[in-house]
Amino acid sequence: MSNDQQPIIILSGVELRAWLKSRRLQSPGAVVGFVPTMGFLHEGHASLLTAARQSCDIVVLSIFVNPLQFGPNEDFERYPRDEQRDLAIAAEYGADVVFMPQVEEMYPERTRTTVTVSGVTERLCGASRPGHFDGVATVVTKLFNLVQPDRAYFGLKDAQQVAVIEQMVRDLNVPVEIVPCATVREADGLAKSSRNVYLSAEEREQAVILNKALREAEQQLRTQRDAMSSQELAAQVTARIQEAPLARIDYVEALAYPSLEPISSFTEAEQALIAVAVKFGNTRLIDNCLIRFNG
Ligand code: PAF
Repeated sequence: MSNDQQPIIILSGVELRAWLKSRRLQSPGAVVGFVPTMGFLHEGHASLLTAARQSCDIVVLSIFVNPLQFGPNEDFERYPRDEQRDLAIAAEYGADVVFMPQVEEMYPERTRTTVTVSGVTERLCGASRPGHFDGVATVVTKLFNLVQPDRAYFGLKDAQQVAVIEQMVRDLNVPVEIVPCATVREADGLAKSSRNVYLSAEEREQAVILNKALREAEQQLRTQRDAMSSQELAAQVTARIQEAPLARIDYVEALAYPSLEPISSFTEAEQALIAVAVKFGNTRLIDNCLIRFNG
């Protein structure tokens, strides 16, 4: 569903709060949906906006490349940005307001408060990107406090991020419903990601191995659930990914979801996450397969 109107662009938290306050006064009981992003929007983000537009009265999109969630040698400086294209997509998918703060607006002076979620952040990206989830949990807490949404929409390509936010919201009694949305993929199965633009043609071609390896593992797990250990499954996915000569594996793990704890037996788990992070050249891609065993 799209909006006939251009979204309102707001740069400051004070203005955002004032705008939302007046909208809530005009429409008491209006449901506010929130889609937090780092911009360079693609169909994955569009699907979050579509889900928000379908079930909320007011849709807020934020675009903020959050320095706090990037490590010192990561891609904060070169993270892709395209403001005009993002605004066109925001209008097409019906955002009412786009909040685009500068770094100084979100972090006006040295930040002294950090939100740390333990447990679910110990493995996967939490282990290979130290501090990443502190940055995510801190910025999402700040954005939730500014927007005070009823519902917030997150893509399951970052399944660990969803688990972290859900844990944080429960622990801190944040009154928001987290709505996880399915990963959107290219026709050949590669998960949509803002970072896909970094890939060379050859890397892009080989990157489809991630989805292939995950689908095969899912198939195997569904048919031989009681015969496979998580280590065997991870070893199988690793071997399949290594068939792509340019792939350099960061991690391949099969864990219980959403606890992200090791699985001793798949027969005891209600949900399992097979998650991978793989570098092609300088581009680190993540993907996963979330398996619900009963349904
Ligand atoms: O998923 C993202 O794009 C970011 O981690 C988020 C949730 C917008 C926080 O910066």
